[in-house]
Amino acid sequence: MSGFIYWRDRKIPFQAGESLAYTLLRETSAGCGTSACGQTYGLFCGIGACQGCLVDVDGRGIVEACLTIPHDGMRVNPVKHTAVSNDDD
Ligand code: FES
Repeated sequence: MSGFIYWRDRKIPFQAGESLAYTLLRETSAGCGTSACGQTYGLFCGIGACQGCLVDVDGRGIVEACLTIPHDGMRVNPVKHTAVSNDDD
């Protein structure tokens, strides 16, 4: 089934058989979002291992976009990433 999803309220098409991560990779310049440091994140491993493609789907929870099949009308938003300090002080 093909159709449309909404990425940050922007309507974008998906094709049957593709993952949500691939849809975002093809249709957006920002991948799955931008970190607090301004770095773009998105599809990396493609198998659910790196967590680089986390997105919020339909306001119900965070999923790996590479393991998620889009459905018509799906609302997808980036996850809010926060900066992490490695200081032990
Ligand atoms: S791309 Fe690595 S978990 Fe999705």
